[in-house]
Amino acid sequence: MAKVPFGEVKVISVLRIKGNIYVLTFTPGLGHQSGQFVSICCPGKISPLPFCLMIGGDSTSQVIFDVKGMGTAWLAERKPGDILDVLGPLGNGFSVFKETKTVLLVAGGMGIVPILELSRHLIQDRRCYVKLLYGARDKEHLLSERHLPVALEVLYFTDDGSCGEKGLVTDRLGETIEELRPDQIFACGPKAMLAEVKRIIEPYSISCRVVLETIMGCGGQGHCRGCIIERVDGTFVHLCEEGPVFDIIEVKL
Ligand SMILES: Cc1cc2nc3c(=O)[nH]c(=O)nc-3n(C[C@H](O)[C@H](O)[C@H](O)COP(=O)(O)OP(=O)(O)OC[C@H]3O[C@@H](n4cnc5c(N)ncnc54)[C@H](O)[C@@H]3O)c2cc1C
Ligand code: FES
Repeated sequence: MAKVPFGEVKVISVLRIKGNIYVLTFTPGLGHQSGQFVSICCPGKISPLPFCLMIGGDSTSQVIFDVKGMGTAWLAERKPGDILDVLGPLGNGFSVFKETKTVLLVAGGMGIVPILELSRHLIQDRRCYVKLLYGARDKEHLLSERHLPVALEVLYFTDDGSCGEKGLVTDRLGETIEELRPDQIFACGPKAMLAEVKRIIEPYSISCRVVLETIMGCGGQGHCRGCIIERVDGTFVHLCEEGPVFDIIEVKL
C-alpha cells in the first residue's frame, strides 16, 4: 500500500448552491486527476469522509457535497479560515484515450460531481464533443445549467417531471448511443442506474468507465479492507486502492 498523502488545508468558502448541496473551496489545491477523491476528517466520525475532488480556481480545490448526516452537516458549517485535515488525492482517476473525440456522460443524483469535473477536462483540455444525460429525483436535486460548462450538451431527467423529461436517465441511453456513436462513455450514480447502463450498452463495443461508491471504513488509507468491490470473475478489489473508477464490464453491479 502506497503512503497516503496527508495534510491540512484552509477553508476559503462554503456556499450552498441548491437545496442541501454545498460547495467547499479550500487551499492549497491538491493537484489531482479527475475522478480522484479526497477524504476529510470530521469530528465524531471514526473515519475521514470521501468526496470527489474538483479543481477550484488558482491554487484551490473544491468538493461538492450533499448534506446527509453528521459529517456533511458539520462540513456545511465551516467558515473561511477554518483548518481541515485531509487525505488525498486518492484513487485512480479517469483514463481518456488519446484518440477520443466524442464522449457520452451519464450522471444520476450526486454522481454529477465527478462527471462535471470530467466534462470540464474533456471540453477545455481535450476539445471533445460531450453530451450528458443527467437525472435526479426532482428539480431541487439537479444542478442547474449555470454550474455546467457552456459547451456541454445536456438532457435533463427527473422522476417527477419537475425539470426536463419525466423518467429515468437511462430511458434515452440506447437511442443516444445510436445517434452519437461515442468513443467512450463515463457514468456515475446509484448502483441500480449503473446496472441499467451496463445492460443497455452490452450490445455495443464501447468502452464505459464508472465511478463506484462504497462505505469506507478508513477513508482510503488501506487499513480497514472494508471498501470491497466484487469483480465479475468472483475476485475482490479495494475501491480505495484500485478505484473508484472501474471498467463497467469488470465489476458486478
Ligand atoms: C469515492 C467516493 C466519492 C464520494 N464523493 C462524493 C461527492 O463528491 N459528494 C457527495 O455528496 N458525496 C460523496 N460521497 C459520499 C459521501 O462520502 C457520504 O455522503 C458522506 O460520507 C456521508 O457522511 P455523513 O456523516 O454526512 O452521513 P452518514 O451519517 O454517514 O450517512 C447518512 C446516510 O447516507 C448513507 N451513506 C453514507 N455514505 C454513503 C455512501 N458512500 N454510499 C451510499 N450511502 C451512503 C448512510 O448509509 C446513511 O443512510 C462519496 C463516497 C465515495 C466512497
Ligand atoms: S477504505 Fe479502508 S481499505 Fe479502503
